[in-house]
Amino acid sequence: MKNASSVIIVPGYGMAVAQAQHALREMVDTLKKNDIKVSYAIHPVAGRMPGHMNVLLAEANVPYDEVFELEEINNDFANADVAFVIGANDVTNPVAKTDPQSPIYGMPVLDVEKCKSVLFVKRSLSPGYAGIDNDLFYKENTLMLFADAKKMTEDITKNL
Ligand code: TAP
Repeated sequence: MKNASSVIIVPGYGMAVAQAQHALREMVDTLKKNDIKVSYAIHPVAGRMPGHMNVLLAEANVPYDEVFELEEINNDFANADVAFVIGANDVTNPVAKTDPQSPIYGMPVLDVEKCKSVLFVKRSLSPGYAGIDNDLFYKENTLMLFADAKKMTEDITKNL
């Protein structure tokens, strides 16, 4: 991330479980001090209730002008260096675009795989709410960071 020019943060249910929003904002502050452009991408059903991510980011004093809805930011993944996916899973799953048999087929998803690199922070390869695997975990440009979202984010900030 330190070598990136632009990073897009994709928060999901696991960020809420870990209460990682404050640690996340601190990590983003550090990135911004290094002249890295950072935006947040909010999927309409990320988390477990409408507006779940917006509420948590607001609680952590994330500026509103850094937060974008899916349709506003989805084209930007192709030009960004890193997607930092923190506790999100289903909302990134490309199977929603490709497999008519999938329970999430037809749901719009965030095109994180178009970034040069994708970092997934989660504790394991376990599925999310929809109970389905995510092929992105196994792709060449994906790094899996297995840990609690808050702990991993704090560790990254220390290392930055
Ligand atoms: P999910 O697909 O549910 O994935 C959340 C991921 O968070 C899990 O794969 C889990 O992986 C990880 N996680 C859990 N605790 C964690 C922790 N302490 N630290 C790090 N990671 C943790 O989440 P999403 O991408 O936000 O998608 C939301 C899903 O909920 C959608 O399927 C949506 O349809 C559904 N849903 C949404 C709503 C609304 S209105 N938002 C309402 C009902 C259902 P590990 O276990 O490997 O850590």
